[in-house]
Amino acid sequence: MTVITIPTQPFQDQRPGTSGLRKRVDRFRHDNYLQNFVQAVFDTQRELVGGTLVLGGDGRFFNREAIQIILRMAAANGVDRAIVGQNGLLSTPAASCVIRKYAAAGGLILSASHNPGGPDGDFGIKFNTANGGPAPEGVTEAIYGRTLEIAEYHSIESGDVCLDQVGSHTAAQMQVEVVDPVRDYAELMASIFDFGAIRALLAGDFRMRFDAMHAITGPYAKRILEEQLGAAPGTVINGEPLEDFGGHHPDPNLVHAAELVAMTKGLDGVDFAAASDGDGDRNMILGRDFFVTPSDSLAVLAANATLIPAHRSGIPGAARSMPTSQAVDRVAAAIGIKHFETPTGWKFFGNLLDAGEIAFCGEESFGTGSNHVREKDGLWAVLAWLNVLAVRGQSVAEIVTEHWREYGRNYYSRHDYEEIESGAAEDLMAQLRARLQGLPGSLLGGLEVTYADDFRYTDPIDGSSSEHQGVRVGFNDGSRIVFRLSGTGTVGATLRVYLEAFEPHPEKQQLDPQDALASLITIANDLAQIEQRIGRSTPDVIT
Ligand code: G1P
Ligand code: ZN
Repeated sequence: MTVITIPTQPFQDQRPGTSGLRKRVDRFRHDNYLQNFVQAVFDTQRELVGGTLVLGGDGRFFNREAIQIILRMAAANGVDRAIVGQNGLLSTPAASCVIRKYAAAGGLILSASHNPGGPDGDFGIKFNTANGGPAPEGVTEAIYGRTLEIAEYHSIESGDVCLDQVGSHTAAQMQVEVVDPVRDYAELMASIFDFGAIRALLAGDFRMRFDAMHAITGPYAKRILEEQLGAAPGTVINGEPLEDFGGHHPDPNLVHAAELVAMTKGLDGVDFAAASDGDGDRNMILGRDFFVTPSDSLAVLAANATLIPAHRSGIPGAARSMPTSQAVDRVAAAIGIKHFETPTGWKFFGNLLDAGEIAFCGEESFGTGSNHVREKDGLWAVLAWLNVLAVRGQSVAEIVTEHWREYGRNYYSRHDYEEIESGAAEDLMAQLRARLQGLPGSLLGGLEVTYADDFRYTDPIDGSSSEHQGVRVGFNDGSRIVFRLSGTGTVGATLRVYLEAFEPHPEKQQLDPQDALASLITIANDLAQIEQRIGRSTPDVIT
């Protein structure tokens, strides 16, 4: 084989964010931007040499081209075997499943998650380690460090590998196995959930819709929900993956999945609706006229875990990211299991899952998952809900309101201020941090501050610590405000303000969250001087 070595120049902007490296497609396509990052992975992750690499993406624009570039580089760098999803497709949770099942040394997942795609959209790449999870900080820092000094990359002279059909090929010395992207994942789902009970539910008059948002989960949802579980044809909407997601944001929230939300409204509304994002790891759960916040979803699933066959004997613990509401903590305390609070980003759950400390975990940002893989998993959450609905025989609204009655309700909302000037955003956080020490004991809007800190996490398994993970301000009535800057944006900065208030009394649990949180919202705005510092009086997105 002819390995070719191509000189290249390093960049300063290849530090992976909350979940991998994300930039405009254009950036990735030029000046070896993609190649530099991939070579940095091969240079630092030496177990890939002579090992197996899993490769796939969410099918967005540039996916096909990037897969071929990476295959040639993998062959030149001595990878023994590449497992690639047919047509270069693999959802993020399916990639995690395949890495684990075939004991791969790692995987490269091509996606910018819920960010828009297409020639003017975003692209992204992420390295996952042998446990199937996003690389921990030590690994991403090593990769980033290497990108700063890279001078050449390796490739082979060869044409494209045919990815249209399942089968085996070779690229120089490397074996390339093109696999059905759905099969292994679907088998895993069938081993976890009560497919019999779900089938029976779907055979009755229960009506549901799943919105794949023209992204990766279309083929997965059609196979599992319609073909294997017998949901009516047409249950999966927007099921055809498109390179630009049909021009939409493939982000499952109330704003971007408005078409689906409308289907749940009124007497004619469906009983259950759900959506997933660009790469299939996020989920949104809806009942008729009812939105389940991701924080509540995690808490409800944890409380009902034993209804799921794989968790029949109970889960050891549950974890949530720091800004996620404390609803799941209440469940954990009540049923006597462990609970953990980790920084934002799925990678922080990895060690806890590997060590068997937890089985369920989630983030407020529409991420829920379990120990079956090391990524959040949109379809897993949908199937978990269907399993619980099938066994309990109640509606989504009944299950959640009953949950609040038992454990109390954590009213919750996130306010996002997008594309703000980075300097102003940093200053806002700096002034908040500077004031933290003086806050405990003081009164803000009539509430007493019980603690105020800049969240720092020490991993209980490997002892590594992560600092500056967001400012938390807690009050004597159990309410809480969190401020942090997004680590996934591609333009300017995004300030996220997370608001949470605890309500134990059932008669006060039916308010609109924005009303229930009104006084906290005022406190947050005053405390961070949002309007003065960034010139915005209202958030761009309220979730
Ligand atoms: C966002 C979410 C975070 C999630 C990440 C990747 O990151 O808030 O929970 O892990 O996307 O899906 P952020 O932009 O807040 O850094
Ligand atoms: Zn995603």
